[in-house]
Amino acid sequence: MNNRKAVARISATSRFLPDQIMTNADLERMVDTSDAWIRERTGIRERRIAPPEMGAVQMGERAANAALEKAGLSPSDVDILIVTTATPDRLLPSTACEVQSAIGASRCFAYDLQAACTGFLYALSCAEGHIAARQAETVLVVATEKMSVITNWEDRASCVLFGDGAGAVVVQPSLNGEGVLSSHHSSNGDLASLLQRPAGGGRLPLNEERLRNQEHMLQMSGPEIFKAAVKSMAKAGSKVMKDAGMCADDVDIMVPHQANIRIIESTARYARIPMDRVFVNLQHYGNISSATIPVGLDEAIEEGRIGPGSVVLMTAFGAGLTWGATIMRW
Ligand code: UT7
Repeated sequence: MNNRKAVARISATSRFLPDQIMTNADLERMVDTSDAWIRERTGIRERRIAPPEMGAVQMGERAANAALEKAGLSPSDVDILIVTTATPDRLLPSTACEVQSAIGASRCFAYDLQAACTGFLYALSCAEGHIAARQAETVLVVATEKMSVITNWEDRASCVLFGDGAGAVVVQPSLNGEGVLSSHHSSNGDLASLLQRPAGGGRLPLNEERLRNQEHMLQMSGPEIFKAAVKSMAKAGSKVMKDAGMCADDVDIMVPHQANIRIIESTARYARIPMDRVFVNLQHYGNISSATIPVGLDEAIEEGRIGPGSVVLMTAFGAGLTWGATIMRW
């Protein structure tokens, strides 16, 4: 039994999804695939694609402003801004500094956190740590991803999976015991090559040949990632429930990373959480990397599936490899 008192809670959530919808039928015209295959093997029906002029900064700005408004805060109330993204607008400076400038949060310090699809849960733990250490009263966490610019649109095994969008949450000190009850995160760099963008960094700078071969785009060993994702998300989820002194029956809703419906169903089965207590929206957005969980939280609140007192379990998995889980009382 874990008697740890929650120190940090999420006081507001928000999301931003670009308007343009790319359906499975659109993909049928681009690569050798079919709507039936995509729906059956992934659960995805459509995804959002940001326009060329809109990058991670602008999507993050929209989500950030909406979260602050919902929390009744102004940008100058933000002490720390953490941005998670695998798709920065530029490689230097950080996306966080650009979002800071865009929203006018001039008083905060801002930094990026790169943990691919697990980024949001890692960032939530950082936010909790900053609050526990009394470095901040208000931490804004923004997850913003323009996956369409790192997707190899000729690779049918990966291009059907991803979409663009952003989510944001405001993290503040707990008031009455609500907030994060337990978290557990891991990584395994030995398996980095299973999901990567090999070229474009320091080791393999871009040249004509690498560009032509699309080596700067996302490459994935799908089935290996699939197996690792189920195993690690399920284990992490079970661990945080146990550490919080809870069992599956105590969980009102699981909001998992949205990569593949079969991954979600297997994780839920292993964690003994029935699917009617699992939040799923990947049919509409596909995999928005680190933004899937904050977008999911925001929609679940709007649908009345999360409210004061709800016990929410979140699990994620991504490149790195990285994975983790967090359980909180809303
Ligand atoms: O956030 C973490 C990031 N990534 C993930 O979580 C992805 C994890 N992996 C997956 O979701 C799945 O492995 C995929 C959806 C990527 C692939 O599904 P799968 O059931 O593991 O398929 P597979 O890779 O084993 O391929 C089965 C067949 C192959 O054909 P053959 O060799 O059996 O003839 C593929 O070529 O399906 C074929 N295939 C496709 N067919 C139509 C692969 N992609 C497609 C496609 N359309 N888009």
